[in-house]
Amino acid sequence: MSATGLPSIGVTACAEKLCALPDLGAAEGLGGRIATQLRDGDLVALFGDLGVGKTTLSRGILRGLGHEGPVPSPTFTLVQHYVTDGVLVAHFDLYRLASREEIFELGLDEALHEGAVLIEWPEILGNTLPNERLEVHLADAGDGRMARLVGRGHWFDRLGALAV
Ligand SMILES: Nc1ncnc2c1ncn2[C@@H]1O[C@H](COP(=O)(O)OP(=O)(O)OP(=O)(O)O)[C@@H](O)[C@H]1O
Ligand SMILES: [Mg+2]
Repeated sequence: MSATGLPSIGVTACAEKLCALPDLGAAEGLGGRIATQLRDGDLVALFGDLGVGKTTLSRGILRGLGHEGPVPSPTFTLVQHYVTDGVLVAHFDLYRLASREEIFELGLDEALHEGAVLIEWPEILGNTLPNERLEVHLADAGDGRMARLVGRGHWFDRLGALAV
């Protein structure tokens, strides 16, 4: 039962924004705007099909945080760590995760404790995925992409501050 006396239906409040990403520059630009909001403990969950632009957006976030080196896809390493000016970043790609438990061996909890976390293929974690998160859902749109941003938990209010 909820505080209103009505049965709880288990739906988490969320805020949403849409953002057209017609080219790579727009994708990196959105990453840069997300970077301005990013702080320790933040989780950005990047959803979308193979090759839709999850790593590209992650690269934009890292560039926005001041990282100037390469940002390889973590497809085979499963996680890449970055030390940026403002925040430590762990960039995960869970496509090849053997089991949900393996994420803890890879250090998700520690990474969230020490800095910010970006996750490609977050749906693989199911309900193990922390609830407080910014979700970016990417989809093809002509030659470019469309991003739907969903803020859950404290990201409900913070999404409003994100200029997209
Ligand atoms: N907004 C965009 N507009 C046009 N092309 C884009 C856009 N974003 C990414 N791309 C291109 O799409 C291709 C795949 O991008 P990327 O590697 O970022 O996808 P991904 O979702 O991380 O793939 P994977 O599922 O393999 O991890 C790249 O060639 C990239 O340049
Ligand atoms: Mg990728």
